[in-house]
Amino acid sequence: MDGHGRRIGDLRVSVTDRCNFRCQYCMPADGLPWLDREEILRFEEIERVVRVFAAMGVADVRLTGGEPLVRRDFPRLLGMLATVPGVEDLSLTTNGYLLERDAEALVGAGLKRVNVSIDSLQRDRFFQLTRRDSLPQVLRGLEAIARFPQVRPIKVNAVALRGFTEEEALPFAEFARSTSFQVRFIEFMPLDADHAWSRDQVLSGEEIRAIVHAVHPLEEVPREPHSTARVYRFADGRGEIGFVNPVSEPFCGDCNRVRLTADGRLRTCLFSLGETDLREVLRSGASDAEVEQVIRDAVWRKELKHHVGEAGFQQPPRTMSAIGG
Ligand code: GTP
Ligand code: 5AD
Ligand code: SF4
Repeated sequence: MDGHGRRIGDLRVSVTDRCNFRCQYCMPADGLPWLDREEILRFEEIERVVRVFAAMGVADVRLTGGEPLVRRDFPRLLGMLATVPGVEDLSLTTNGYLLERDAEALVGAGLKRVNVSIDSLQRDRFFQLTRRDSLPQVLRGLEAIARFPQVRPIKVNAVALRGFTEEEALPFAEFARSTSFQVRFIEFMPLDADHAWSRDQVLSGEEIRAIVHAVHPLEEVPREPHSTARVYRFADGRGEIGFVNPVSEPFCGDCNRVRLTADGRLRTCLFSLGETDLREVLRSGASDAEVEQVIRDAVWRKELKHHVGEAGFQQPPRTMSAIGG
């Protein structure tokens, strides 16, 4: 429990700060100085932290990066976490580039759900935003994982940027209507490496919803507790579309998430300015009970809400790629 009465049930684990893409809204073109090997938690350390969290009642674990699939032997880590008692929902957020290579191994290891980031369905525009000409490869990855019916639902995340994503709204709506994927638009948040975020670059979920609704009427689906997205179904029954609106409609009130970075820092908010060093605790020979107490103390101090767009907002030093979304 945090100090605001919220029950924390979801842990997002970043397994690497590295990435094979360079999305404009996340990383600089030249990349970032990566963490050294010994700074990164080993698989056994990640498993231990997850075990301690799960014993406290955290049932949902999402693996992120950077790009999680660039971590060597990643499916083995997934397999280790799948067997931790108490972990019920084991999911992955990926850019999809290596999904074709890894789909079978991931499913074999126990993956339940996957979210794949795709910002444009047009190859040249995808290239422009991610700085990689990889749309065909990502779509092959999506198809590869979709062949496994045990991995459901599969969601596609598109970061929405003013002056770019307006044109993507209808193609993504058609995509959601003609496939089994739930497409979600995400408002651009100030976690970019270039510190170039400004409020006027945020294309709100409501604006995109209106564009889609004018052509394909939408009906709201009741919001699931702790969900990041507002989900709508097409009125004619053909698929779903969602909107993650952290800037225009913050959902901090029932947030149930905390985050572990690749270098073992516990972050209680995406926008936290302070972190708790769990790696040091793990490597100092602490018992599980001691690790648990450090976690409980940090979680208790979880931020009430983010202050994006307010006067005095301070962007955290870490970029999205080093937090894991
Ligand atoms: P589902 O469980 O499938 O709904 O996944 P999710 O939406 O929690 O995870 P995903 O990794 O797909 O994240 C989608 C977007 O939501 C990303 O841009 C995340 O950064 C953002 N997000 C996730 N959790 C939070 C949060 O606690 N606060 C804010 N502001 N954004 C979040
Ligand atoms: N704002 C909103 N979403 C972002 N993501 C990465 N950077 C940002 C940002 N600045 C998204 C990725 C991925 C998810 C984990 O976070 O596209 O889908
Ligand atoms: Fe890599 Fe994801 Fe950041 Fe893009 S958003 S650079 S895919 S970590």
